[in-house]
Amino acid sequence: MRAEQRDRYRLIIGVLCMVIGVLLIMLIGPSHVPAKSNVVVPETVKLVMDGSIKAEKTANLVQTHSGATLITAAEWQEKYPEIYASYASNSENDQVQDYVRDYPMIQTLFKGYGFAKSYGSARGHTYVVEDVTSTGRPHKMANCFTCKTPMLSYAVNEQGVEIYSMPFEDFQNDILAQTNEVLSCYNCHANTPGEITVTHTYLANALGEDFGHVDAENLACGQCHVDYYFDPATKAVTLPYTNLSTMSPDAMLEYYNNLIVDGQVFADYVQEDSGVRQIMINHPELETYLGEGSVHKGMFTCADCHMGTVVTKNGDVYPSHFLQSPLTNEDLLKNTCSQCHSDLKAEVAAIQKEAEDRTYEIGYKLEALINRVTEAANSGEYTEEELDAIRMAFRNAQFYWNFVFVENSEGAHNSALTRDCLNKSETLIAECEALFK
Ligand code: HEC
Ligand code: HEC
Ligand code: HEC
Ligand code: HEC
Repeated sequence: MRAEQRDRYRLIIGVLCMVIGVLLIMLIGPSHVPAKSNVVVPETVKLVMDGSIKAEKTANLVQTHSGATLITAAEWQEKYPEIYASYASNSENDQVQDYVRDYPMIQTLFKGYGFAKSYGSARGHTYVVEDVTSTGRPHKMANCFTCKTPMLSYAVNEQGVEIYSMPFEDFQNDILAQTNEVLSCYNCHANTPGEITVTHTYLANALGEDFGHVDAENLACGQCHVDYYFDPATKAVTLPYTNLSTMSPDAMLEYYNNLIVDGQVFADYVQEDSGVRQIMINHPELETYLGEGSVHKGMFTCADCHMGTVVTKNGDVYPSHFLQSPLTNEDLLKNTCSQCHSDLKAEVAAIQKEAEDRTYEIGYKLEALINRVTEAANSGEYTEEELDAIRMAFRNAQFYWNFVFVENSEGAHNSALTRDCLNKSETLIAECEALFK
């Protein structure tokens, strides 16, 4: 009897161990294999997922004070007719989403800042000058033209950083009017199309010794698709990092929190009701794509996914300069992405839905929270030190939400980093709430 009982116990314990083992594998397993099972990486295709960044081609850095004259897109048209035509077709991307209408919480969160009144989504590169001059946000200085016309970088490169602080209208009438050139060849190639040349020197300053560790095709786009601030003294465009390892959201927050201007922590604006000194993050596509958790950074550049290659009727090949979503580029999907993805559109839709839903939810939580900060500030029940701690906690919580809200891929560039930022925002919201009496 006893031996039989022992066997039975052994059997039960054995079965229990198996069940626990299976449960453990189910719990731990997914972090070792890609979460979505419909992505199959064939043996023949190498996907670098060791955290390294593709760096096949290095970029040139523009020569400053060279005495060169800017060559316009129209002047290159004859030599590069197809490229010119694809570049000009960016006008087809003419839809603008009104963020102030669709994200009503930003009227409170950005109150005291132009973006609370007028904030449209991105559209084609050919509209940038029109959009910057017609936006409902008032502009004071020429620095707002940095990512709209190559004439700004050209003038900075030839004349110096003083150009950034020129009055907006003076730049428009005296310098831009010489060519009326909208974002064009010079931005990415200087005067040598075919070679990538970084003409926005602040990007090279921000990457330091890592300039050569990032592919030219990422740097071309990263000249504008990055977060920035205006240096308080010179008004020059400046990026909040000094190399690749300080390009993360955490390090960027630390950078801004350690930046002291006139005895106070740096702020892009002060939220009008609550007095919170806010950081405004702008389109951090490069930071997100090169950040921790990015699946493809070892394999593809911005250009690989957003430009694509065109084969003409007579077999010539050229890179399309029509910047589009990879999801609307059927050739790219068929020839490249489908090697591993069976339904990329559905996958991206799921990632974007999760990111968007959470951006709304947390955006509303932040709105409610900043109203509590305002009430606390007006109540007379808190010391200045207590209020400062509350305001700082709020600033940090909004920073992580902001990082996701203004990133244009809505999670597609790096869903892991997106999730991480939103989680951090929620944790910081709770920490801020705990400071109220
Ligand atoms: C000189 C600055 C600059 C450079 C360089 C630049 N962009 Fe842009 N890009 C912008 C601006 C500004 C907008 C928003 C345009 C608007 O809404 O007026 C934009 C918008 C876009 C859009 C959205 C278009 C749409 O239809 O919504 C895509 C995609 C894009 N850029 C991709 C790229 C890629 C890829 C590169 C590199 C090959 C690149 N950009 C380089 C400034 C730049
Ligand atoms: C937003 C950045 C950007 C702008 C603006 C831009 N280019 Fe390019 N260009 C690139 C990138 C990135 C590549 C490399 C693409 C690739 O190899 O896939 C490239 C490649 C080229 C090439 C090399 C073609 C080849 O076969 O290797 C030529 C020539 C060229 N561009 C001409 C132009 C001309 C002319 C203009 C203006 C009408 C222009 N580019 C505007 C980013 C830009
Ligand atoms: C692995 C492919 C891939 C790479 C590499 C990539 N992107 Fe994207 N990007 C996407 C996808 C997917 C979307 C979402 C497109 C959609 O919603 O249709 C997107 C969206 C965007 C948008 C918003 C487009 C719009 O219409 O509003 C911009 C701007 C953008 N990417 C810029 C960049 C820049 C700059 C880089 C390099 C730092 C980059 N992308 C690298 C795949 C990529
Ligand atoms: C060599 C295989 C491979 C190729 C080729 C490939 N991908 Fe992927 N892709 C993956 C893997 C693996 C993942 C991670 C899947 C997951 O987590 O479920 C992924 C994820 C993605 C994501 C989501 C990223 C994120 O952070 O969640 C996007 C967007 C994407 N791929 C776009 C593209 C585009 C666009 C192309 C074609 C230009 C492409 N991929 C080509 C393997 C590949």
